[in-house]
Amino acid sequence: MSSTKDKKIKAIEVAAERCRNCDLYRHATQVVFGSGNTSAKIMIVGEQPGNAEDLAGVPFVGPAGGVLKHCLEEAGIREDEVYLTNAVKHFKHHISGGGKRRLHDRPNAAEVKACHPWLEKELAVVRPKIIVALGLTAARSVLGRTLVISKERGEILDELEGGARVIISWHPSAILRSISREQSAKMRQELVKDLKLAKKKTDYSR
Ligand code: URA
Repeated sequence: MSSTKDKKIKAIEVAAERCRNCDLYRHATQVVFGSGNTSAKIMIVGEQPGNAEDLAGVPFVGPAGGVLKHCLEEAGIREDEVYLTNAVKHFKHHISGGGKRRLHDRPNAAEVKACHPWLEKELAVVRPKIIVALGLTAARSVLGRTLVISKERGEILDELEGGARVIISWHPSAILRSISREQSAKMRQELVKDLKLAKKKTDYSR
């Protein structure tokens, strides 16, 4: 049965389908809105949907989502305990391989800004205790300031209007693309540690 919060998120998603705040809608299949538990204490914010998410219309269902879901499990967080979303709701990409492959492009500052009102609306409905922002784009969008991930990850950071605290961590795609196995394993461990911190923080609140 859907809750009042589910209905509110659905209404925002329907409005986002008509969003023309930037040009990314032109080449994306569809808007990929947040999904999961709309009453979650933990909201996880990624960068933008990838190829698989663009086709499915659901966040974190591709390879990066696979890494994230394993890390959540390792951190003792069930998928139904979180709300998953992205800083940007359309897939930005370019075509390669003679028209066969759609490769991710990082959204620019104007695109992230244009999409920010949708994230704000999600935050106002879900009202999480902790936001875990994955990667630089998500962290900048959530915190509204510049930062260096390696310097600020793994800490409980700024309190946002509404009371949510922020933890930033590695984006699962960065873990997948990492230069060596050792580096990838280290970043993965750190993501799990950061998710555990989010869980611990929410276990003590409310
Ligand atoms: N990467 C993201 O940041 N979000 C997704 O939904 C998928 C991959």
